[in-house]
Amino acid sequence: MQNSNTPHLKHPGFDVEKVRADFPILSQAVNQHSLVYFDNGATAQKPNSVIDAISHYYQTTNSNVHRGAHYLSDKATQEFESARSCIQKFINAAHREEIIWTRGTTESINLVAQTWGRENISKDDEIIISTLEHHSNIVPWQLLCQQSGAQLKVIKVKKNGQLDFNHFKSLLSDKTKLVAIGHISNALGVINPVEEIIKLSHQYGALILIDGAQAMPHLILDVEKLDCDFYAFSGHKMFGPMGIGVLYGKQDLLNAMPPWQAGGEMIEKVSFEGTTFNQLPYKFEAGTPNVAGAIGLAAAADYLDSFDRDALADYENFLLDYATIALSKIEGLKIIGDNCEKASVISFNIEGCHSQDLGMMLDQQGIAVRTGHHCAMPLMDALEISGTVRASLCFYNTTNEIDRLCQGIEKAKSMLI
Ligand code: ALA
Repeated sequence: MQNSNTPHLKHPGFDVEKVRADFPILSQAVNQHSLVYFDNGATAQKPNSVIDAISHYYQTTNSNVHRGAHYLSDKATQEFESARSCIQKFINAAHREEIIWTRGTTESINLVAQTWGRENISKDDEIIISTLEHHSNIVPWQLLCQQSGAQLKVIKVKKNGQLDFNHFKSLLSDKTKLVAIGHISNALGVINPVEEIIKLSHQYGALILIDGAQAMPHLILDVEKLDCDFYAFSGHKMFGPMGIGVLYGKQDLLNAMPPWQAGGEMIEKVSFEGTTFNQLPYKFEAGTPNVAGAIGLAAAADYLDSFDRDALADYENFLLDYATIALSKIEGLKIIGDNCEKASVISFNIEGCHSQDLGMMLDQQGIAVRTGHHCAMPLMDALEISGTVRASLCFYNTTNEIDRLCQGIEKAKSMLI
């Protein structure tokens, strides 16, 4: 299939209408227009299989886990633990104990900063992050540095949004104890060369944490092959529910780390003479967990696994190329983060329009995008912009929707400029 906007692009033949039928929210009207959902980087929509798994859990199984001596509690525990095994398989972790349930990427990163970090980081140590990071992969390390006296080193970014790899190399030294890097930039969609970053960091004896929040919906993750020490991600960005996420950590590292939040489940024996702690993964899972969330997340992983993942990636790359070509034809529009390896995310600005005004006018036409600094203020400062309009595309989006975005921008321009 060819398109008038992009005569040289070949449609990969992906049956997008069949996929869209799995996502009930997509068929609604917003502001009297059929919804165009391009805010997938903020949260992805949920397929029926995820919605049904959560609803089925509450209709048939709801009970507290690892506690009751009754049928429902056993059933809930079984489903909760098989969700853990499902995620272990999904990311190819060696052990199920390496999958720690958290509320999301932010909590996963804070867990590492406040357990491994407080135990292992001291004055004279250095932690490396990059200018591309989301605030949730900046502020936990700033707090740890304030607490420990360690130094935070920041990799510069080039004007096109790529990491300055030579600068990264120049920051590495035997003082580097941890490198914490996003797999894919949430603001620009740039894919970082994490394989090389991991290898180099390990050569200096540093551990490496990858913020995978934006990567999970787009890339196939194999933590064994990647050899990262920690990998953090959220369920809701990969078609699962909100409020559930994962910290993957290598078993020996997690075993050596002190617990974080304290309460039920994370203990072995409590006494006023001294408390001992549970084994992995429960040592890091204080309190009643988000059982339905874990089950919903496993359903999301199964949903993704029901596809040929390469076909999904091919279609998303096609959408990215289509949108890049179509948007580039709009006068005054500048794509931020161009000419580098990217996921299907396009961040742009239009000369003479504020990103928020543009976002509002698109919303009036039923088109959902994110505007502003995208929780990446240091990146915006480095690029000398106040924000962008971000269209983050997913395999349930269509070329017609991209055409609607272009028309919507032209309309907004005619009213704003
Ligand atoms: N971190 C999310 C985003 O990039 C909320 O939109």
